[in-house]
Amino acid sequence: MDTVQHVFKGTFAHSTHRCALEVLENHILGTDSAGKILFFEDAQEQTRLAQKWGFDEQKIEEFGKSEFIMPGLVDTHIHAPQYSFIGSGMERPLLEWLKHTTFPIEDTYSDLENARNLYSTVVKRTLRNGTTTACYFATIHTDASIVLAEMASQYGQRAFIGKVCMDRNNTYPKYIESTEESIRETKRFVEVLKNKKYERVKPIVTPRFGISCTEKLLNELGKYADEHQLHIQSHISESTAEIEEVLRLFPGYKNYTEVYNKNKLLTNKTVMAHGCYLTDEELHVFREKGAALSHCPNSNISLCSGHLDVQNVLRHKVKMGLGTDVAGGYSISLIDAIRKAIETSKIIFMEKIKRETNKINTNQKGKMAPNEVSGHAKNGTMEMELDYNVLSYKEAFRLATLGGSEALNIDHITGNFEVNKEFDALVINPEAKDSPFEVFSQISKEEMIQRFLYLGDDRNIKAVYVAGRCVVPFPSNA
Ligand code: GUN
Ligand code: ZN
Repeated sequence: MDTVQHVFKGTFAHSTHRCALEVLENHILGTDSAGKILFFEDAQEQTRLAQKWGFDEQKIEEFGKSEFIMPGLVDTHIHAPQYSFIGSGMERPLLEWLKHTTFPIEDTYSDLENARNLYSTVVKRTLRNGTTTACYFATIHTDASIVLAEMASQYGQRAFIGKVCMDRNNTYPKYIESTEESIRETKRFVEVLKNKKYERVKPIVTPRFGISCTEKLLNELGKYADEHQLHIQSHISESTAEIEEVLRLFPGYKNYTEVYNKNKLLTNKTVMAHGCYLTDEELHVFREKGAALSHCPNSNISLCSGHLDVQNVLRHKVKMGLGTDVAGGYSISLIDAIRKAIETSKIIFMEKIKRETNKINTNQKGKMAPNEVSGHAKNGTMEMELDYNVLSYKEAFRLATLGGSEALNIDHITGNFEVNKEFDALVINPEAKDSPFEVFSQISKEEMIQRFLYLGDDRNIKAVYVAGRCVVPFPSNA
């Protein structure tokens, strides 16, 4: 029989396929020495469970009344090297920003000392903010990308690490590799990581985006990923200027999705960032291939790229998680991504109202006032005459946890508190001494969770667990 490592007792909140936010008060959860969840039941069963699993009831770790335990956050898209300029250089749109800010800085990561310093900082900062799984872009430099993998493993983060591939770069030609080098180095990178046998840090094949890769490179990377059943990540349909350039560079393809799909880069282990302008036809291809989207709302707003219509993606049953897209996004926190995802959905909703209003006004000039036909805030809710629901905080919570693990195809391992999954979790204390918000009165647990998602931050994250191991607070020698 497995031996019990930890037993936790208190309020748990997680998502399942049926329920976006399930709150389970007075529950008890036990993990084994490998960090897997052995049992998760009502605490009334405590004595029976103690007998069955042979643990000491005195050693149960019990959480406070207002505290709750939630699954770890999954960042499905983050550029580790860009953390060095987070929150700056945000005045330009995507392609200009890449040329003037991003490429020159990424180019400095050939220096391994620079990489080690920055990457240890990024891993610690993301962990402290509750990111238990991160899907990273590094740079084109293989050895520095290996350092990022070492850092994630050292601090205990679950991670996918991508050595970036780019064999064309017209805007900043210095930061480039040859096609052969890019393929050869990707293979070396994957081999090195395989030999390191990290339990929870894996390589991911990473063509940067359509503009920076030739057809030959995309084709070879697709073949290689297929042969070795590897994960794949890239960017797609982030801005209109980007799409225009991709279609100019790939005249034989009918759309951006086809550029990846025909080169075997859309699989059930693929996560593509953004997708703001994907058509229904393209979303249908994503669904068929089992490929996922990473919704990065902070970045989409910050670089004025566009908005992803999350509800439309969900309607197409395309797998989806949230991403910070640091440093196109200025926040390292998935809690921020949750807020921005909700706000983006509300913006889309308001734009739809405006379009409908304008249509009616144009058709019936002078007959109706705009707010008579907008149909918003019916019965004080966002229920609409338009057939559109705003993304709820519960659905956004699911995207940031279970949704992210589905997008990365690791939902059989992590994402919620089902028995046999690994215990990736955050202990949240809404009443932390330095909390950025107050809890004034007795409120329901659901309300408490909503307040944390809208107002809380890392000061409320008391502890972080990855596969049953406490990784925050950091050990004193970290
Ligand atoms: N498209 C290609 N590279 C990048 C990048 O680094 N950030 C974002 N947001 N989009 C990209
Ligand atoms: Zn990105």
